[in-house]
Amino acid sequence: MKDRSLTLVKFLLVDDLEENLVALEALLRRDGLEILKAKSGRQALELLLVHDVALALIDVHMPDIDGFELAELMRGTVRTRTVPIIFVTAESSEEHRVFQGYDAGAVDFLHKPVDPRILRHKTETFFQLERQRLQLAETLRLNETFVAAVGHDLRNPLSAILTAAQLLEMTATDDRTRLTASRLRSSGKRMSAIIDDLFDLARVRLGGGITIEPDETDLLAVAQRVVSEHQQANPRRLFEVRPAGDLRGEWDHRRLEQVLSNLIGNAERHGVTDAPITVRLDGEHEEVAFSVHNRGTIPPDVLPALFDPFRSGREKASREGLGLGLFIVRQVIEAHGGSVDVTSTDEDGTTVGIRLPRRSKRDSTRSSLA
Ligand SMILES: Nc1ncnc2c1ncn2[C@@H]1O[C@H](COP(=O)(O)OP(=O)(O)OP(=O)(O)O)[C@@H](O)[C@H]1O
Ligand SMILES: [Mg+2]
Repeated sequence: MKDRSLTLVKFLLVDDLEENLVALEALLRRDGLEILKAKSGRQALELLLVHDVALALIDVHMPDIDGFELAELMRGTVRTRTVPIIFVTAESSEEHRVFQGYDAGAVDFLHKPVDPRILRHKTETFFQLERQRLQLAETLRLNETFVAAVGHDLRNPLSAILTAAQLLEMTATDDRTRLTASRLRSSGKRMSAIIDDLFDLARVRLGGGITIEPDETDLLAVAQRVVSEHQQANPRRLFEVRPAGDLRGEWDHRRLEQVLSNLIGNAERHGVTDAPITVRLDGEHEEVAFSVHNRGTIPPDVLPALFDPFRSGREKASREGLGLGLFIVRQVIEAHGGSVDVTSTDEDGTTVGIRLPRRSKRDSTRSSLA
């Protein structure tokens, strides 16, 4: 069943007089609209903390915090900065009072006694716009849920295919079969990585963020494991691992493997093929850093949206990948409390650098998309 509260538009009414609130509510009441009422600026701010409102109708004359002061407080907070405001005033002279915050969001005035037709007219656009926005968000949410569900259901049959391919590769008696089985396995692994990426994306979009389970981890061992896997799949490529200092810390080792595998995969697929790929690990300071370097540059048109899902490399997405890799890398690293930095120049090639606090807190972030 569709949750109706997800597509309910909310208006906030603020007036210190109960009878005014009741009268305004009666005039505005309609299907699909939830009306929140506050009798003071303070109450209004409390409601705004928990509700996303499409419009605030604010009485100018109120004891304690008056309408303009409330509006200024709203404009000062990111969450409520752009909420459209209609001031309800008794005198038109009040419109001239200086109000800091016209630029941030729509502002209008209504005069008492409120004319029902003008009220309807002024509020209708806000209602319709918000309704469309909510419906779109709901469609997107369903879409992400669908991706997550399909991804989940594809995993089991795929893992059966991978196991069968591995068995075939090990038991094959002729080179041709062995090669075919090996190709089958590497394509299957790639597909499995794509499903994992889609799954992560859906989780981030659904608001859960990427969760991490930090444990005692040796970053050098992680790097060696990942590099040797890539070396096996790509024997002709030259890989270098350059460790320094103490590389032990508290991180989610599976997630770090995913990050390194993504970065090395990028270097293999997008970098210059006959140059080495270098993984540097630096544990000489309190913060631990590592980087993956390759020759070749990131195309300039990709750079501005490098960490956006699906945006990068769009024109060749079907051949090269979904464009989710770096997006997920950043989500994982930020969940560890770390940061990602990319440099790409003709002279120095491309380096993706990561910094990590030596100890990460469990679920330290619940990053999500705007
Ligand atoms: N090491 C690199 N060297 C050169 N270009 C890179 C490198 N890493 C990324 N790029 C460029 O940045 C784009 C975005 O990378 P990203 O990992 O996010 O997506 P992708 O590799 O295209 O797809 P996916 O990772 O989902 O398989 C790539 O398509 C490529 O153009
Ligand atoms: Mg990639």
